[in-house]
Amino acid sequence: MKVVVVGSKGTLGLALTQSWNDPRVNARVAANLGSAPEETNDLVTGLNLPDFDVCSRMFVVDTIGDIRPDVVINASGINLIDWAEKHPNTVLNLHGHGVSNLVSAARRTGALLVQFGCGEAFYRKRLTTSTPEVFTNADAAEDERLAISPDAPGFAESDPTNPASVYAKTKLESERVALELPKSLVLRFSSLFGETSEYSSGNLVDSLFNSLSRTRRISVLDDRVMEPLWSIDVVCAVKTLIAAGARGLYHLSGGSRCTPKELAEYLFKECGYRNREVVGVSSEEYGFAAPQSAFTVLRSEKYGELENVYRLPDWKTALRDYLDWRQSYANF
Ligand SMILES: NC(=O)c1ccc[n+]([C@@H]2O[C@H](COP(=O)([O-])OP(=O)(O)OC[C@H]3O[C@@H](n4cnc5c(N)ncnc54)[C@H](OP(=O)(O)O)[C@@H]3O)[C@@H](O)[C@H]2O)c1
Repeated sequence: MKVVVVGSKGTLGLALTQSWNDPRVNARVAANLGSAPEETNDLVTGLNLPDFDVCSRMFVVDTIGDIRPDVVINASGINLIDWAEKHPNTVLNLHGHGVSNLVSAARRTGALLVQFGCGEAFYRKRLTTSTPEVFTNADAAEDERLAISPDAPGFAESDPTNPASVYAKTKLESERVALELPKSLVLRFSSLFGETSEYSSGNLVDSLFNSLSRTRRISVLDDRVMEPLWSIDVVCAVKTLIAAGARGLYHLSGGSRCTPKELAEYLFKECGYRNREVVGVSSEEYGFAAPQSAFTVLRSEKYGELENVYRLPDWKTALRDYLDWRQSYANF
């Protein structure tokens, strides 16, 4: 099989290009499915800026036309939510026209297109003890409509979306455009961690590791609820979904959740950093420019009905496995 990964230098793109044929990934899938590990020798081509700009239509259609892949996986995107708010045209160009270019290229070559979406599709505000019982004006009524408890069930594929930021709205546009192609797969997830390259915009676990060398007191958000997935688990899920012939929209989730602060505390405990103080800060204290959802936990209602697909582990298991994986690289 020939696979093209667009955005190959980001967190997910790196995992897809570097680990697609890794025997450890195939062993992880086999252990999860209860089958014998398969050896894969797929041809994986990574495409990224500056050599490949997904927004350049003719170039995209020609390059992918030359490769004639079976699968195009689009891991490109801009995840800096505040930055996106200030640069809506750039972000819409990437998330809208970029995906439209890939749809055209996939249509011509007959390739399957895999696109990623996010939990920000469902904007919610945190339900606090100060949230009034009786809502007297329009703003408060809106707050009530959007308020969510940290224990609420995650959003399912069938739940109505409610994007608030430029990032969320344009990511939903990516999904809409990708789903116009019958041979497409759109996978939403809440949050991602994993190995990064010097080019990647980074992720929470990565920046927590970076902060270790700078400070003993680390401030982390404590009023958001999310589900962090390991990039390698997303690779495992994508491989099995392709093999199962899945099409359409699915939520990727292992059914677990945490706040960024809980993740930081667990990470430092697992790594043995006992002299670090993790301090919780609120989104208000942080002062974001764009509306960011207090709750991006997803539930995989439709995914759960599929057979022979990778069941994602809970975030603590995934994080421990990632730490082991990093360690094995260090030893190597
Ligand atoms: N990270 C999360 O927590 C999260 C959560 C939910 C969904 N997702 C989705 O998952 C996907 C992968 O996310 P990620 O965290 O791996 O992203 P990432 O680390 O920010 O990587 C994005 C990659 O896209 C590349 N890119 C940007 N503009 C491009 C263009 N015009 N042409 C070609 N490549 C371009 C970037 O290259 P440069 O660095 O050179 O600009 C970068 O390598 C995205 O669709 C994202 O929205 C991510």
